Amino acid sequence: MGYKVAVVGATGAVGREMLRVLEQRRFPVDELVPLASARSAGQSLEFRGERLTVRALDRQSFTGVKVALFSAGGPISRDYAPTAAGAGAVVIDNTSAFRLDPQVPLVVPEVNAEAARQRPKGIIANPNCSTIQMVVALAPLHREATLRRIVVATYQAVAGAGQRAIEELSQQARAWAAGQPDPAPSVFPHPILFDCVPQIGDFRPDGDTVEERKMIDETRKILGEPTLRVSATTVRVPVMVGHSEAINLEFERPLSVARARELLSTAPGVVLVDDPAQRRYPLARQAAGTDPVYVGRVRLDASVEHGLNLWVVADNLRKGAALNAVQIAEYLAQHGEL
Ligand code: A2P
Repeated sequence: MGYKVAVVGATGAVGREMLRVLEQRRFPVDELVPLASARSAGQSLEFRGERLTVRALDRQSFTGVKVALFSAGGPISRDYAPTAAGAGAVVIDNTSAFRLDPQVPLVVPEVNAEAARQRPKGIIANPNCSTIQMVVALAPLHREATLRRIVVATYQAVAGAGQRAIEELSQQARAWAAGQPDPAPSVFPHPILFDCVPQIGDFRPDGDTVEERKMIDETRKILGEPTLRVSATTVRVPVMVGHSEAINLEFERPLSVARARELLSTAPGVVLVDDPAQRRYPLARQAAGTDPVYVGRVRLDASVEHGLNLWVVADNLRKGAALNAVQIAEYLAQHGEL
């Protein structure tokens, strides 16, 4: 038995990845409905070797749909997720629209899968990409030694800003190779080629960016620790796919490097890549196109009590978005919730 599954934003960077992940993981799909804006209606997308015609999203799009995966931006989710839920679909929303709504669970299956079962609005939120990979790595350490504080700096790939951002970096690289001046940026506030831009999202009155605030609030909600101290600096770098994070941790109790490595090596969704002598540590280009959250550079931070440093890398389109959403759907299917 399979399900009718809608993907809203199917032509986007995350939407295309959702189609690939559904196919690769053999999620039981009876019918796939690819939805996008009217601009893309009539285009075709490939799914399981068939060409599917993209349809324009409208109020009737969700008839008979069991699972609706949304990744077409916050305004579309705010407008259409309740319509889809009202039509009987379970909505798994990849935007920030509902993430902090107390009636909407915010789910990373390796960390808090159970939360997906309580969804009074029929909506489950998929967290921000940088938050997902961080909490997958931290959850096993937190269970062992209780986090006291997290300080994280991110190195985020352009793919996180969508298909147009991938094209923007490619275009800048082509112009550079041809000896032409930088084309004017339109997705990012500055040219991203050969630079690091410490702004992802708008600035808030307190000086944090919206992305930084997401990492703080979402981490607290997923771990169920509403007062956990989290400090984040989020930076866009000229990497196509794959977010990297330098994470500094302080725990309530001692946690040795050996024990942290042991916990990480058996943690669900984590692959430990930590052999500095062989120059082995997680790299975005190696992570791209794969599912795990890679952790390396595990070492003590002797400057604080019970301190540890980590380097964490994952494919932001897969574990950071599409894969996490499909894993939530798999969990629901396995637990008779669809
Ligand atoms: P479209 O390709 O028709 O613009 P990305 O994050 O890569 O930029 O992708 C955004 C996704 O959201 C695309 O699939 C895009 O479709 C879709 N989208 C944007 N605006 C709308 C809209 N008004 N209605 C439905 N889908 C939309």
